[in-house]
Amino acid sequence: MAIRKIVTLGDDTLRKNCKKQEKFDLRLWTLLKDMADTMYKADGVGLAAPQVGILRRVVVIDVGDGLVELVNPEIIESSGKQCGREGCLSLPGRQAIVTRPNHVTVRAQDRRGRFFEFEAEELFARAVCHELDHLDGVLYIDRMDRELTPEEIEGHVPEDDAEEEHAE
Ligand code: NI
Repeated sequence: MAIRKIVTLGDDTLRKNCKKQEKFDLRLWTLLKDMADTMYKADGVGLAAPQVGILRRVVVIDVGDGLVELVNPEIIESSGKQCGREGCLSLPGRQAIVTRPNHVTVRAQDRRGRFFEFEAEELFARAVCHELDHLDGVLYIDRMDRELTPEEIEGHVPEDDAEEEHAE
């Protein structure tokens, strides 16, 4: 188990465009394992490679239904709208209300390079959108409707659908 350092806002890495992952080798598998370990240790529901300083299109997500590894993911269809709270492991202590699609269809590769497609809804869809944004140097603060106050972070927010705190 290797925990990697999560870079925070202000680090240029978070603002760069990530390169396609071309090799599906042991190095990628180590990165995926380290990213999952790092995400779980930090109590997050998602983590993108640039957050650990690697500019590759690699993401891990676990919204409570098991670990999902995505290599070179793309959203090929999105629909609906959800408005809820969002946080990010690279912006500790902050949360905002962010509007996202409620449903997305994703095409990605697995750790062996095999293509697959899946559909995600609600929190899972939110996590997918958030993590894929990271691969293009986009952070939720670029899209947020409004930032929450420290009191709101502790309590309930009227427009908060999920009523759960999660950092991605
Ligand atoms: Ni994030």
